[in-house]
Amino acid sequence: MKQALSVASECAPLVKTGGLADVAGALPGAMEEQGWHLRTLLPGYPTVMSALKKAKEVRTEDDLMGGPARLLAAKASGLDLLVLDAPHLFERRGALYLGADGKDWPDNPERYAALSWMAAAIAVDGVEGWQPDLLHLHDWQAALAPLYQREMSDGKRVPSLLTVHNIAFHGMASVTKLKDLRLPQWGFHPDAFEYYGQINALKAGLVFADKLSTVSPTYARELLRPEFGMGLDGVLRNRRADLVGILNGIDETIWNPAADPQIVAFTTPDKKAKNRAHLIEEFGLTPSDGPLAIVVSRLTEQKGLDLLLEALPAFIERGGQLALLGSGEPELEAAWRAAAEAMPQVAVRIGYNEALSHRMMAGGDAVIVPSRFEPCGLTQLYGLRYGTIPVVAMTGGLADTVIRANEAALLADVATGFQFFPITADELIGAMMRLCDAYEDRPGWERMQRRAMAHPVGWSTSAAHYAALYESLTSQP
Ligand code: ADP
Ligand code: GLC
Repeated sequence: MKQALSVASECAPLVKTGGLADVAGALPGAMEEQGWHLRTLLPGYPTVMSALKKAKEVRTEDDLMGGPARLLAAKASGLDLLVLDAPHLFERRGALYLGADGKDWPDNPERYAALSWMAAAIAVDGVEGWQPDLLHLHDWQAALAPLYQREMSDGKRVPSLLTVHNIAFHGMASVTKLKDLRLPQWGFHPDAFEYYGQINALKAGLVFADKLSTVSPTYARELLRPEFGMGLDGVLRNRRADLVGILNGIDETIWNPAADPQIVAFTTPDKKAKNRAHLIEEFGLTPSDGPLAIVVSRLTEQKGLDLLLEALPAFIERGGQLALLGSGEPELEAAWRAAAEAMPQVAVRIGYNEALSHRMMAGGDAVIVPSRFEPCGLTQLYGLRYGTIPVVAMTGGLADTVIRANEAALLADVATGFQFFPITADELIGAMMRLCDAYEDRPGWERMQRRAMAHPVGWSTSAAHYAALYESLTSQP
């Protein structure tokens, strides 16, 4: 079986802030079926370290970006792991990327440069005789690996694929860190990793990885445009021939309405009713005949939930109710708390709660995802699987995964949800009104739910695409 090293800064179920973790956690299982074994290189955060049983030390470093480090080999949660245990970088309380002050840890460049450096060292030296045929790198936190590998070895290099999950995060560092980060002076150039006078880790990956992918075909096209490229669209246009979009899947064992321990199991939409009643009770809402919309999301500018705040009065006027679970920017948290105070039809839970997110998917009638940009998005996929109709902005993966209920799609009986564009509060209101209309036609609504639940959202198709890409990289002379 061919071997790949997947390198990510988070990986479910061990450590998660967003969808990247779900993807990094699900990919190894999905790729195994395609004839590829993935080992996953992760930082040794406290939660990861405490999950390891029988870890074996396979490499040591006296000084890796400011302190001693060890590489551990272990198995946990069905994953074949390599863990970078570097207490000076990863053994700390608080959020993964942010300190208690809500700001990025000042040494984030060193933390993930160390991860990337170790990925390259594994590619070049192997670990205990094991060597990957391919490096699969995720986001900026792993993006320096191709450059480090180039610097370490003048011989044959292990080919690399960089997957962009979100172009908004670049991994910027001051040029004064060049030496500390073990980066070569020659690379501080606009054609390499220099970016407006600073070091840009993601750019290094976009330039030096052999192939690039992102998590939906639409986002792959959007990334080439200045509105979406976040300053890196020019770099991506140069590499257009090497960039593909492969949709994320969801883990259908974790998200399975027929066998989800958090909910009253169901296989057809008419059996969702108990979950709906429980959810209304759990959120302290009043039972109503109108649609119950849900949101499970990070609360950031990207997610467009300020637009939803504007759309709420019109939706409530039509008998709608909304339950939101999320956390993130303090201003957005405060705005949502205030909305719940002001409107009895709106209920909000601020925080992160995996179990509740399952109950919401099971009990909701519709899931709202009004993102300004969305590389792929996973919650609309959970919605489909649980017969919770997605109402989404027409962008990125949201455009690629939901079949919009326009006249043609309704006539052909293929629609699975609602989309709106341009991404404004007015257009979102329009989509929510279409949702209310559709909800009133109960037989039609139930047909849409059945189609949604039958829509393929698992990994098989996408894993086959990744396998083809892996093959193309490893079969080159
Ligand atoms: P992103 O990675 O941009 O946050 P995705 O839709 O790809 O967006 O993935 C988000 C993941 O995080 C999903 O699995 C979603 O259910 C989960 N999630 C987000 N916020 C919360 C929350 N407050 N509680 C529980 N799960 C959450
Ligand atoms: C990012 C994106 C999200 C995507 C996830 C996993 O966090 O914001 O759209 O689904 O990565 O690829």
